[in-house]
Amino acid sequence: MAGDSSHPSDGAGATIRRTDYRPPDYLIDAVDLDVRVDTDTAVTAHLTIRRSDTAATDAPLVLDARDLALDEVAIDDEAVAAQRIAHHAGGFTVHDVPERFRLTTRCTIRPEANTALEGFYASGPMYCTQCEAHGFSRITPFIDRPDVLSRFRVRLSADRERFPVLLANGDCVEQGEDGDGRHYAVWADPFAKPCYLFAMVAGDLARVHDRHTTGSGREIALEFYVDHGNEHLVGHAMSALKQAMRWDEDTFGLHYDLDTYMVVAARAFNMGAMENKGLNIFNAAYVLASPETATDATFEAISAVIAHEYFHNYTGNRVTCRDWFQLSLKEGLTVYRDQRFSEDLLGADVQRIEQVRGLRAMQFPEDAGPTAHPVRPDAYKEVNNFYTATVYEKGAEIVRMLRTRIGEAAFRAGLRRYLEVHDGSAATIEDFVAALAEAAGVDLEPFMRWYAQAGTPRLQLSREWDAAAGVTAITLRQWTPPTPGQPDKQALPVPLRMELLDGEGRAMALPEHPARVGDDLLMMTDETLRIEVPGDAPVLPVCPLAFSAPVILEGDYSALDLQRIAVQSHDAFARWDAIQQMHARAHAGLMRDDASALEPLLATMQRIAAAPPGDDALCAHLLAPPRAAWLWEQYPVVDPARFTAAMREQKAAIGRALCGPFTVWAQRNPIAEGQAGARALANTALEYLALLEPDAILALARRRVDGTNMTLTMGALLALSQTRSSEFALASSAFYQHWREHPLVLDRWFAVRAGAAHTSPEQIRELLAHEDFDWRNPNRVRAVAATFARENLAHFHTEAGYALYAGILERLDGSNPQLAARMCRPLLGFARLADPWSTMQRERVRDLRARVRSVDVCEMLDAALA
Ligand code: TRP
Ligand code: ZN
Repeated sequence: MAGDSSHPSDGAGATIRRTDYRPPDYLIDAVDLDVRVDTDTAVTAHLTIRRSDTAATDAPLVLDARDLALDEVAIDDEAVAAQRIAHHAGGFTVHDVPERFRLTTRCTIRPEANTALEGFYASGPMYCTQCEAHGFSRITPFIDRPDVLSRFRVRLSADRERFPVLLANGDCVEQGEDGDGRHYAVWADPFAKPCYLFAMVAGDLARVHDRHTTGSGREIALEFYVDHGNEHLVGHAMSALKQAMRWDEDTFGLHYDLDTYMVVAARAFNMGAMENKGLNIFNAAYVLASPETATDATFEAISAVIAHEYFHNYTGNRVTCRDWFQLSLKEGLTVYRDQRFSEDLLGADVQRIEQVRGLRAMQFPEDAGPTAHPVRPDAYKEVNNFYTATVYEKGAEIVRMLRTRIGEAAFRAGLRRYLEVHDGSAATIEDFVAALAEAAGVDLEPFMRWYAQAGTPRLQLSREWDAAAGVTAITLRQWTPPTPGQPDKQALPVPLRMELLDGEGRAMALPEHPARVGDDLLMMTDETLRIEVPGDAPVLPVCPLAFSAPVILEGDYSALDLQRIAVQSHDAFARWDAIQQMHARAHAGLMRDDASALEPLLATMQRIAAAPPGDDALCAHLLAPPRAAWLWEQYPVVDPARFTAAMREQKAAIGRALCGPFTVWAQRNPIAEGQAGARALANTALEYLALLEPDAILALARRRVDGTNMTLTMGALLALSQTRSSEFALASSAFYQHWREHPLVLDRWFAVRAGAAHTSPEQIRELLAHEDFDWRNPNRVRAVAATFARENLAHFHTEAGYALYAGILERLDGSNPQLAARMCRPLLGFARLADPWSTMQRERVRDLRARVRSVDVCEMLDAALA
C-alpha cells in the first residue's frame, strides 16, 4: 500500500494510480481479534481467508503490516517458517497458501510510542484507534483496503482500574473477570465492514447515555464517553445526534441498524471525527460544549460533525468505497447530507452563505494552487493527503448540482436505490451517479467530468441591450484555467439558477429556451449559452442563485448593478455575494492607492444597516468583512504587506462609515440561547469599531471578555487582538487565568495570541515553549501554528515567519506526518507571491524538503516545487 509514513524514508513513496485498480486476490470473511491492552499491547488475530474467484491459483498472500513487532505467523495452526515470509516496506508476503485457510498472527504494539495518532495510540490516559485510511495495518497484519469486507469479533482485556471501559464496534456479547486485576469484554459486529471502520477504546471514561426510538420502533441506546468531569458538556452533541437520527429517517427513510450508538471524545485526534461502525471517535472539540465554554460557531460545527458521522452509517459504512480514489463517494455525499441537515435545522439562506464562504476560503485556493486535484484524483503517494476541501466540499457541491438537476423526488429515489443495490459492498462514484440517472431518467454522464477535472471554472457573463428591439441578450461563457497535469479543460455541465430583475427591481420569469429545465434553472452544457430577454428596459441577470454551481462568476456588472443586486435580489446568497464583489473591488483599489471603489461599498453597507433584514445572522453576514483567503485569490500575484495594509484600511473605513449602527449593535448584550444572530452582529460591529481604537469601545470589549458567554467573550478578545491597545494583554491574561484548566478553551487562548496582529515570530516561539503547549495534541499545535499562518499575515510573511513555520513542520514530520502534511499549505503559495517573499518562501521550502522524511510531507512540498 502507500508508503510507510512512520518509517523515516527519503520521502520517495510509490505512486498509486486509479486506473491500476485490481480486485483483491484474497478475501477475509471473518476476523477474530484478541487484544491484551497494556503499555505493550499483544494482538492475536485469526483471519478466515479465501482466494477470490478472479485470482490466479498461485497468487501469493500479501499482507500490510506497519510499525508492529511480528511475533508469529501460522496457517491452519501450523507455524509458517521465517524463510517463507518475505518482508517488504509496509508488509510481508507468503507464497503457496491454500485456497481457504485460517491465518493466525501474533504481534506487539506500543500505543504510547505512537505519536502519528494512526492505529492504536494513547490520547491522554486513554487508548484508542484511528484506522482510516491505513491505520488497521498498524494494529495487526491485514489486507488493508476498503474492498475487503469482514465480520469482526474482538476480545479486549485490560487492567480494570486503569481501563475500566472497553469498547469496540457492534454489540458487547460477553464480559467478565480475567484474573490479575484484569477484566475483559467481547464485542461482535454483525455487519461486514472494511477494516478502516474498525475501532476499539480502552480508558477510564464517564458515560452519558440517552435513548432514541426510531420511526420503525427500534430502541437505540445512545452513549457518549468523555473524560470524568466533562459530563455536563455533552448535552448539545446528544441532542444533535437525536435530531440527526430523526432527520435521516424523515428525509431519506434511513433508520439506524444496531442497538447501540457510541461516541468517544478523544483529546488527541488528527481530524474532526471518525465514523467507525457503531463507535464513532471524535475530536473532543466536536463534542464538548456549553454557552460558557463554546462559541455559537462551535455549537453549529458540533451539530454538523455529529450529523456527518451519523449519516456515514449509510453513506460510507453500509455502502463503502471500492478504493480510496472513490473517497468523495462517501465524503462528498455525506457532507452534502450534513449540509442539508444544517439547512433544515438552522435556515437555508445563512447556511448556504456560510458554506460558500468556507468553500471560497479553503477549496478555491486549493483548486488554484500547486496541489490542485480532481474530486476523484488520478494518483497519489499518501492517501491521507487527499482528505481535502476538494474531495469533501467540492464533492458535496457536485452532489448538490446533481440534486438541482434532477429534483428532490428523483434524488431521494436514486439515493435509496443506490443504498439498496450496493448494500454491504464497496462501490464507485459511477455506481452512485448511475443510480441517480436511472431514478431521474436523465443522462448524468456529463457530470462525471466534474469528478475528473480540477480547477474552478470561470463563468463570464455579459449583456447587450438592444433598445430598438427591446431585448437584453445575456451571454455566458465558461472556461477553466489549467491545473498541474491538466493543461486542457473541457466544458462542464453547469446548472445555473438565475433571477432576472427588471428596471423596478421586480423578478421576471426566465424566457422559454432549450436550456431552461426549470422555473429558474438553466442547464449550460457547452462553452457558451445565450439567452434573449424581451422587456422595455435592460434586465439585470443574477446568478448563480444560492450558488447553484461551484464557479467563479465574472459578470460585467457596474458598481450600480452590484448595489441593486445587494438590495433587490430575492436570493440571500446573491445579495451577500454582490457585497463580497464590492469588497474585492474596493480592496483592489486600495492596493493601487485608489479609494474610489470604497464609495459604492460603503453606501451599500449603510443602506443595509439602515434597513437591516429581520434575521440578525443574515445581517451579520451581509456586513461581515470578506475572508482574507478569498480576497487573496483575486490577485495573480500578491504583495502581502500591501494586502494586509489595504484590508485594515478598508475595515477602518467601514467602521467610520457605519459607526452609528455598529455602536448600537456592539453595545447590545445578547446572552440568551436564541440570540446567536444578535451575537454575530455584535461581534462583527465590534470587530470593525475596535480597529479605530476609541476608548469607550476598548473598555466595552475589555469588560465583555470577562462575561459568561463564550461567543461574546471571543468576539471581544479577537477584536482587541487586532489593536495596539494594552487592553488586549490585560484581557488575555485574565482569560488565561480563568480557563487554564480547560484544554478546549485554552486552545482558543493560544489561537488568539498566535493570530493577534502584533504577535511576532519570536513571541510565537514563546507560545511553543509555554508550559501548557503540547506537541502531541494536534488541536494545540494547530491553535498556535495554523492560526499564526492564517490570521497573522503581516508577521507570517517575513523571513522569520517562514523560518519559524518551516521549523514547526520539520518537527511534526518526525512525530505526526499526517498533521504536518495537512499544515503545509501556507508555505506552498510562493508561485503567486511577489518578491522578495516569493524567493524567500521558495528557498525555505527547498531547505525544508531536504530535511523531511515522511512521504506525506514530501508529496506536498514536491507538488509546490515541481
Ligand atoms: N472519515 C472521517 C470523516 O470524514 C475523516 C477521517 C479520515 C479521519 N481519516 C481520518 C479522521 C484520520 C481522523 C483521522 O468524518
Ligand atoms: Zn466523512
